[in-house]
Amino acid sequence: MKILVVGGGGREHAIIKKLKENPQAETIYALPGNGGIARDAVCVNIGATDIDGIVEFAVENAVDYAVVAPDDPLVLGCVDALEEKGIPCFGPRANAAIIEGSKVFSKNLMKKYGIPTAAYETFDDLNAALAYADTLEPPIVVKADGLALGKGVIIAQTRQETREALTDMMRGGKFGKSGERVVIEEFLTGPEVSVLSFTDGETVIPMVSSMDHKRAGDNDTGLNTGGMGTVAPNPYYTPEIAAQCMEQIFLPTIRAMKAEGRTFRGCLYFGLMLTPKGPRVIEYNCRFGDPETQVVLPLLKTDLLTVMQAVTAGRLKEIDVEFSPRHAACVIMASKGYPTAYEKGYEITIPEAVLPQVYVAGAKAQNGRLVTSGGRVLGVTAVADTLRGAIDSAYAAVNTIHFDNAFYRGDIGARALKAGERE
Ligand code: AMP
Ligand code: GLY
Repeated sequence: MKILVVGGGGREHAIIKKLKENPQAETIYALPGNGGIARDAVCVNIGATDIDGIVEFAVENAVDYAVVAPDDPLVLGCVDALEEKGIPCFGPRANAAIIEGSKVFSKNLMKKYGIPTAAYETFDDLNAALAYADTLEPPIVVKADGLALGKGVIIAQTRQETREALTDMMRGGKFGKSGERVVIEEFLTGPEVSVLSFTDGETVIPMVSSMDHKRAGDNDTGLNTGGMGTVAPNPYYTPEIAAQCMEQIFLPTIRAMKAEGRTFRGCLYFGLMLTPKGPRVIEYNCRFGDPETQVVLPLLKTDLLTVMQAVTAGRLKEIDVEFSPRHAACVIMASKGYPTAYEKGYEITIPEAVLPQVYVAGAKAQNGRLVTSGGRVLGVTAVADTLRGAIDSAYAAVNTIHFDNAFYRGDIGARALKAGERE
């Protein structure tokens, strides 16, 4: 079988390594992939948002199955375009990917179907937004409607900051078209949980839960990033909370999307906050999380290709999806300065023995060497019987890897460990 994976980060590397466990996966193409993925797949220099280029490549190379991993091509209709050529895909069509593509859409969906989320109002007029914000007590949460590389959420601590955020987004064009409409919402508190799920639009199978670490610095200080590390499972996500989420959030969301004529097939990611009043949806993503995938897939016992194909065929209820009861931790090694300015081009050395644990995100091949080319460079994952064991083993592997200007958080999993000990 020839499989094509659209994307080129750590998440795609984790998907590709897992797909390779199935001997049927003879050839895997990564579009565009990266210098590290090149060890595990045939990388082709076609960008993840070049939909015409992707479709042309898939047809010319008689690809049997495609996995579209990142948000942009999904929102742009990459799955629709591939399916038109008869290529079965894993991933939602554009009309369902809107659940991530527009926060106004997802908030209105939740309101209409009674799915618990933060109270909110949406605005496309700056003056109306400013007037409304003046009636609220800070902190005030301001979100750009569209995709904004994970940076479209501002938690304003004062009214003045709120006014600035709204003006930047709605008049200053800070996020381009994505910021022309905004959501202003209630500030919630509580531990966050990421739950990725497989769904074919009828059945929803949650994967093992995980915890992301979004801030750049230890103890959750510094700027927001794409994610500096993850652990799975998330100790705050008890079986009772899982049952409540299934009842109040997961199933209602799948049914709501179907009722709207937007059947969702693929990986639906629920970003949840466990508030004192119960679980609330903070965000939906129409795809696997990054770096959640780097801890969730290593714990998947069932063959990934089989599960994906069942999703595509609408046969998910016919299969069992099993996860290991063990623990996983992933530490992101980034370039100093990320998420703002950082230097690139430093050689990366990874001992052969830890390569199976490494998911490459921002690196390219240059004269036969691997060099840094992005902010998040590598994700290093370890699996063990205990969370402590997984964390220690991930850091032990990190310590064997070298590149200049490397930086990583030293406390990935620390909060989860404390929470786990309290139970
Ligand atoms: P998002 O891009 O929607 O995931 O938001 C980024 C981060 O902002 C989330 O992971 C939360 O930590 C935080 N956040 C988003 N919405 C809220 C809210 N209503 N209350 C408190 N924190 C929030
Ligand atoms: N780690 C958060 C995300 O993938 O959106």
